Amino acid sequence: MCANASSPLVFRHGLNSVAPDLGWQTGDRDKDVTTNDKSHGINTRLAHMGNDPRDFFGFVNPPVVRASTVLFPNADRMERRDQQYTYGTKGTPTTDALAAAIDELEGSAGTILVPSGLAAVSIPLLGFLSAGDHVLIVDSVYFPTRHFADTMLRRLGVEVEYYDPALGADIATVMKSNTKVVLTESPGSNTFEMQDIPAIAKAAHAAGAIVMMDNTWATPLFFRPLDFGVDISIHAATKYPSGHSDVLLGTVSANERCFPQLKDTLFAMGVCAAPDDCYTILRGLRTMGVRLERHQKTALALAEGLEGKAGVARVLHPALPSFPGHDLWKRDFCGASGLFSIVLDCPDAHQHKAKAHAFLDALRIFGLGYSWGGYESLAVIANLSDRTVAKAPKEGPVIRLQIGLEDTADLMADIERGLAAAASA
Ligand SMILES: Cc1ncc(COP(=O)(O)O)c(C=O)c1O
Repeated sequence: MCANASSPLVFRHGLNSVAPDLGWQTGDRDKDVTTNDKSHGINTRLAHMGNDPRDFFGFVNPPVVRASTVLFPNADRMERRDQQYTYGTKGTPTTDALAAAIDELEGSAGTILVPSGLAAVSIPLLGFLSAGDHVLIVDSVYFPTRHFADTMLRRLGVEVEYYDPALGADIATVMKSNTKVVLTESPGSNTFEMQDIPAIAKAAHAAGAIVMMDNTWATPLFFRPLDFGVDISIHAATKYPSGHSDVLLGTVSANERCFPQLKDTLFAMGVCAAPDDCYTILRGLRTMGVRLERHQKTALALAEGLEGKAGVARVLHPALPSFPGHDLWKRDFCGASGLFSIVLDCPDAHQHKAKAHAFLDALRIFGLGYSWGGYESLAVIANLSDRTVAKAPKEGPVIRLQIGLEDTADLMADIERGLAAAASA
């Protein structure tokens, strides 16, 4: 006979006996930095938010809990699901640590964690839209969001309409009786159009719709959507929270009103994020403030230096006073990240591709690749052929630059190399 057969307590991993004490004892040294102390600077808070070392033997980082099954101590507790963790898809100490940190940054009632930034857009849209509903999506939206709306949402019977990013309170003129969601993204993808978020939120709420925002560019350090009337804030944590181009993750944070439905959507769909990825993003948050300071400084120096340079028709960066949406950026945002675009000076549309390719092929430091927010600089041609309202600039091809952590002078020299090659193409 198996030795454990007569010993159910052992078989149940000791869950019926006294639980191990993972935490510190009452009276032990209190944590010096409480994460919700708003008097601390953002880098102090980023260094300590999320988990509390006192909960897990004092280790400064939370455990990476890889889990599907969670055991219950007895049938009654199992039936009532009466314990903090019940199943891997419903959360673990690792996901809780990251979600708590994001909630603190966003000022949200709750955050769900999903496997990519695109999932962070598609899941709330699926959760809040039904057949027969109308959704308004900003025309300067991230292209895969448009693809999702034009394919999946339309197939499910949702009426999809794109609106001009310049609409503020006038969003009311395109609202319908069945408009349920207004999706914003400010600044817009690739061309950086700024939106009047408070005016849009006010008009959308008056008409009974909720407002979602893809806030990936600013991160909650430079713009907190919920403070400006947005109901659901979306982030591709793949970008700045990760910071190292080695992990995909999305976060969706909601206010009190929307969080229950958002959470139900996640539970219904089962698209939960992997524990190692959550851990990596929480680690990234610790340094995100200092990295962003550097991204911001270098990108702005380059943007300023490129304005008026031969071969550059326009620089699309919201923090430049010459940029059309600059006033909105200045009013609502408290910083700019490291992603902006330049429009090459090439009025002949037949030459756009040759000039853009010559520019990209001459670069030695900038890599040619998608995504952004990492430590390394990247360049890519912005394809704006999907736009219906916020059309592509006429002056020439748009090159999007992701400014990494390299030295400004080296990056400027690289861009100048690209401009020289474009000029002689
Ligand atoms: C504005 C924006 N939102 C969402 C995403 C999607 O993020 P992910 O690459 O993690 O799917 C991206 C990716 O480039 C993006 O630029």
